[in-house]
Amino acid sequence: MPKEIILVTGSSGLIGNELVPALIKKYGQENVIASDLNEPTNYSCKSVAIDITRPEVISKTVGDYHITTVYHLAGLLSAGSEENPDLGWRINFGGLKNILDVAKENKLKVFWPSSIAAFGPTTPQKNTPQHTILEPTTIYGIAKVSGELMCQYYFNKYGVDVRSLRYPGIIGWRGKAGAGTTEYSIHMLNAALSSGKYDCFLKKDTLLPMMYIDDTIRGTIELMEAPADKIKVRTAYNFSAISFTPEQLTKEIQKHLEISVKYEPDFRQKIADTWPESIDDSAARADWHWQPTYDLEKLVEIMLKQLGTIAKQEVRAQ
Ligand code: SER
Repeated sequence: MPKEIILVTGSSGLIGNELVPALIKKYGQENVIASDLNEPTNYSCKSVAIDITRPEVISKTVGDYHITTVYHLAGLLSAGSEENPDLGWRINFGGLKNILDVAKENKLKVFWPSSIAAFGPTTPQKNTPQHTILEPTTIYGIAKVSGELMCQYYFNKYGVDVRSLRYPGIIGWRGKAGAGTTEYSIHMLNAALSSGKYDCFLKKDTLLPMMYIDDTIRGTIELMEAPADKIKVRTAYNFSAISFTPEQLTKEIQKHLEISVKYEPDFRQKIADTWPESIDDSAARADWHWQPTYDLEKLVEIMLKQLGTIAKQEVRAQ
C-alpha cells in the first residue's frame, strides 16, 4: 500500500487539537502536516499556514508534501456564521469546494465534518433518521447540506473517496471552544472551575445531541479506515452518542462542584430550536460498526478533571 501522508486543516480548533495528536500517534509525526490560517506552533509534526479560501495555496501544500489524505476541519461554527453569513458561506462551502477540487486533481481521500445543523425545523426532532427532511434555516446548516450533496457528487462523478459525519455538539478540553451553539456546555464546565457562575445563552430545557471528543476522534478515524465498499452513505452519516439539556448538565456538574446558572437565551436559542433532540445513527452502526462509549456522567467527570489540570498549569505558569 502507498504511504499515507495526512494534511489536517483547521488544526488549531477544538477538534484539530485532539485529532492531530491522535493521527501523529497512529501514523507517525513525519506523516502528518498540521495547518490553520496561522501556522500552528504546538505540534510535533510539520505545520503550515493555509487560507482555505485560496485553492492555489491548498494545491501547493498538497504537491509540496505529497499529501494523500485530508481531514478538512477548517470552518466557522453556527453562531459565528450567523453573525457574518458571507464569510460563513465562503469558509464553510467555498473551503470544502476548494478541497474537493484539489482532491479530484490529486486523487486524495477526504474527511469533512457535516453537522446536526444540516437538519432544520421541519426535520423530525426525536431520533432523527439518516434519510429525512433537510431544510436548515441557518447559513451554517445551508452550507452543511450543500456540502454533503457536493461530497456525494464528487464521489459519484469523479470517484473522490470523501467521507463525512454529522457531528453533534462536540465537548473537548484541549482546544478552545469555537463560536458555536452547543459550545455552551464547554463554557459551563469552564465556569464551574473558575467563578462558579454561568449565564447560559440557551434555555434550561434545550435538549441537544452531544458527544465527548474521544468518541468523536475514534469514530472519525474508524470511518476513514473502513473499507470503501462499507461506506454506503456518501453525503454524511448520522453520528450520535448522548443528548442532554443545560439543566441536566448543571445537575451533573453539581455532583462535583458548586455552580449557579442563570438562563438568558439569545439568538443562539433560535438556532438550537431548529436542531434535533436525538439522532438515529443505526446506519453508521451497521455499515462501519460505530459505537459510542461516553455517557453524561463519564463526560463531566473527565472534562472537569482535564480542564482542572489545565487551569492549575496556567496558574503555575503565571
Ligand atoms: N457545535 C456546532 C455549533 O453549535 C454544531 O455543529 O455550531
